[in-house]
Amino acid sequence: MTTTRELREAAGEEPITMLTAYDATTARLIDDCGIDILLVGDSMGTEALGYDSTLPVTVEEVESRTAAVARGSDNALVVADMPFLSVGVDESETIRNAGRMLKEADADAVKLESGPHTVDVTERLTQLGIPVMAHLGLTPQHINQLGGYTRQGTTEAAAEEILSLARAHEAAGAFALVLEHVPANVAAQVTDDLDIPTIGIGAGGDCDGQVLVIDDVLGLSEEAPPFAEQFGDVRAAMTDAIEAYKAAVDDGEFPTAEHSHIEAGLDDLS
Ligand code: KIV
Repeated sequence: MTTTRELREAAGEEPITMLTAYDATTARLIDDCGIDILLVGDSMGTEALGYDSTLPVTVEEVESRTAAVARGSDNALVVADMPFLSVGVDESETIRNAGRMLKEADADAVKLESGPHTVDVTERLTQLGIPVMAHLGLTPQHINQLGGYTRQGTTEAAAEEILSLARAHEAAGAFALVLEHVPANVAAQVTDDLDIPTIGIGAGGDCDGQVLVIDDVLGLSEEAPPFAEQFGDVRAAMTDAIEAYKAAVDDGEFPTAEHSHIEAGLDDLS
């Protein structure tokens, strides 16, 4: 079982691998492959729940998916991604929402899309025994301010702000930091500066670890961001299987005797 302490110790020693998962079956497959962290990302909104963005995702949806992922995994650290407006509005509500992920859904930690507003929250949750993964750079819950899923930290001032917020979250107790869609040279400096591991997505190869959305890795997404890599073609494999099933039913080739069961004495029902 991977722990937040092991991850902190792994920083700079061996690459950390993280993938998103939203259900028990996928979590089991990922866990069996030896991936270190399963992130129950709020990307479930667009990848699994049919929303146009991550904003509509609810605490209940993340909690339910996190519980499924935790049931499907034995070894990976399970991190629940706190959805839009579930943290930072009110302190006791924040603690209740984050606490639910550990108490009810069996997560090992939570991730917060971070900014100046999450430094105190990170400290409070950590004090209470809720490990926090921070997330800087592109934070999709701010899409309405950002105006698009664009590269962040591209000016000196913006890059300095990322570094200073990274330091603040480390000091507040975060055990790891996701850096999303930032220049590789900025991510490298943040990684160098911090003791906690950085986990990059679109942040170059110098982070301590990498994360991708599972649907992008499998080739299941309808569209993927430019920094993602498709390592399989599951969409094509699923389409082939579904079409083959439909054709077999249409042509009377499925089910066969092998899939059926005949009970003696039941041929003459009135
Ligand atoms: O929700 C998510 O999947 C994420 C990752 C992209 C880091 O936050």
